[in-house]
Amino acid sequence: MTYTRILGTGGYLPDRVVTNAELARTVDTSDEWIVSRTGIRERRLAGDRETTCDLAEQAARVALEAAGCQASDIDLVIVATTTPDRVFPATACLLQDRLGIHGPPAFDVQAVCTGFIYALSIADKFIRAGSCRRALVVGAETMSRIVDWSDRSTCVLFGDGAGAVVVGAADEPGILSTHLHADGAYKDLLTANTGVSDVRAAWPGRITMRGNEVFRMAVTTLDALVGETLAAHGLAQGDVRWLVPHQANTRIIAATAKRLGLPMEQVVVTVDRHGNTSGASIPLAFDTAVRDGRIRRGDVVLMEGFGGGFTWGSVLLTF
Ligand code: UT7
Repeated sequence: MTYTRILGTGGYLPDRVVTNAELARTVDTSDEWIVSRTGIRERRLAGDRETTCDLAEQAARVALEAAGCQASDIDLVIVATTTPDRVFPATACLLQDRLGIHGPPAFDVQAVCTGFIYALSIADKFIRAGSCRRALVVGAETMSRIVDWSDRSTCVLFGDGAGAVVVGAADEPGILSTHLHADGAYKDLLTANTGVSDVRAAWPGRITMRGNEVFRMAVTTLDALVGETLAAHGLAQGDVRWLVPHQANTRIIAATAKRLGLPMEQVVVTVDRHGNTSGASIPLAFDTAVRDGRIRRGDVVLMEGFGGGFTWGSVLLTF
């Protein structure tokens, strides 16, 4: 039986740090409001000339080095992004070219904040099916490009960054299971509601969100998702060593941790420093905890995400 193992991780954050105090100079908000409602203290923003692919490339190179891989070892490239450099080609193709990988399939996945979970799940299926041996899976975003910087209810939430993993075929797990969901009935609660094909509004779309409704849906949906993931393996609450959640809001993260019976010491939280980097948030958080030595080989890790669509999903794995 073939399994998918994570061989190496990488992350990259742009240099520019934007604090809550800095945002409070341009919109009617305060550090106290942002910290108490979201847990966010600061976020990173890409420079004017820095693109999603630039961030993805940095994270990918670190992950390749951590995995001990050459670019030529990679036979699948997937980038999860909502903020691609171009309408086409896919950011994965741009990244592939930067890395000197020529020939293997490369494509983007668009599932917003659940994008990395979707991408990792797809890579897992390619590897288990024997269609590839080593995949580069990246979550990369420049959310700052689609934020409405005059809307205090959303502009304080988002940040830019990239995270990456290299996964490879192995005889032992690895990824234990993946669980993906979506329901487009909720398309208007969290959206950037213009696109290439819809010419009725200005391009590009800016993020709008009915935050409180999204919050309530996120908590209840993630609760059910955690139950589904544990039940699929007959796991009990304490069997998971680490929760690596999508980083949108510490209150949502704490509710999921409670559902898992995990103390916050076993939850990787980066939202305070990264903000919500959408598809990049889970691999960035994962890389952070691998690099600082918290997540070790053999640990059981639950990744979960929830975002626009709505989309939601989880990956349960042994690191
Ligand atoms: O990543 C994808 C998934 N996204 C999420 O999961 C985000 C889910 N939503 C949330 O995290 C929270 O709903 C928010 C952090 C966005 C908002 O927190 P909330 O506790 O739900 O606040 P609210 O939207 O109910 O707004 C409460 C008040 C409002 O004022 P009034 O109407 O009570 O006078 C807002 O206008 O807070 C006001 N407000 C702000 N005040 C200061 C909204 N944004 C701000 C702000 N600074 N930045």
